[in-house]
Amino acid sequence: MPATVVVGGFFGDEGKGKVIAYMALRDRPSIAVRGGVGPNAGHTFTIDGRAYKVRMLPSAVAYRGCRLMIGAGVLVDPGVLLKEVEEFDARARTVVDANAGVIEHRHKEMDRSEHARVIGTTGSGSGPANAERVSRMLKLVRDLRDEGLAGLAGDVSLLVNEALDRGEHVLVEGTQGTFLSLYHGTYPFVTSKDVTASAICSDVGIGPKRVDDVLLVFKAYVTRVGAGTLENELDREEARRRGWLEVATVTGRERRAAPFNMALAKRAVMLNSATQIAVTKIDVLFPECKHARAYEQLSTAARRFIESIEDELRVSVTLIGTGEDIYDMVDRRRGG
Ligand code: IMP
Ligand code: MG
Repeated sequence: MPATVVVGGFFGDEGKGKVIAYMALRDRPSIAVRGGVGPNAGHTFTIDGRAYKVRMLPSAVAYRGCRLMIGAGVLVDPGVLLKEVEEFDARARTVVDANAGVIEHRHKEMDRSEHARVIGTTGSGSGPANAERVSRMLKLVRDLRDEGLAGLAGDVSLLVNEALDRGEHVLVEGTQGTFLSLYHGTYPFVTSKDVTASAICSDVGIGPKRVDDVLLVFKAYVTRVGAGTLENELDREEARRRGWLEVATVTGRERRAAPFNMALAKRAVMLNSATQIAVTKIDVLFPECKHARAYEQLSTAARRFIESIEDELRVSVTLIGTGEDIYDMVDRRRGG
């Protein structure tokens, strides 16, 4: 499995961070490389009761043996990235593509405009920076001189393709979710780029024939922050009652919630050419499954839910999240 791409199937916050951290520790890739928009994403993973959050570094940082890279298509917030590099003591293994875009303070101010408020953006400066990039006026990492970031710059697409040539395993991390895609999502309530699997590959500089597996991550229910349609949305009280009321990693906003949407899931499989599916937080729907680590430990109702997804989508559900910890996971490829 030389190159595996992991992407979100709904509106982000499907639990990609946890799934990626788990896969990195299991598969030991030589490189984990992040595509996607930039610091508007927040990924969380929990190991031994401690929660780690990243907005810029790949979630595979959980595995100490891999190099951590950020692709040319990604926007970098130097302050956020350098803080994470320090927190995870990751300087020696981090490479940022010299062509990655740089978010400056003024982009964050522009991201508080009236229009940004209507869309419900994260305020991270990502949209305004990408707009400037399209205008060919944005500063790139290669233009930085005396910041700590200049020392991390490199040729990520070359490093990734060379690793694949050597037959090494590369984990490609997507951010956001399929229906936040600028092209395929619920425009105008979307992020500032395409975020489907093809775009994530383009962000890091690998061609479509390089990819062996596309793992599509769904949560057992759907959440979304910011504006835009959310079919069968629950009112806040009902979401709280069901335990579906979550708080966003980056913005601290409450997430809106709705039941699992099979039609959207089917479309996400199509748009990403998914070869495998992960379903996270099944313990929230079926509390009796909490901490299960084998398929047989799941209740009949939970198994029926998983099997209905496989029947409808015609793709295997290979990973099932059953709790906070990255090892609260049913891994069916491991006989779990
Ligand atoms: P922006 O990407 O900050 O411009 O925000 C545009 C829309 O995408 C808003 O609805 C955000 O809440 C949403 N969004 C962007 N990144 C993420 C993410 O990582 N998770 C969930 N929603 C996101
Ligand atoms: Mg998130």
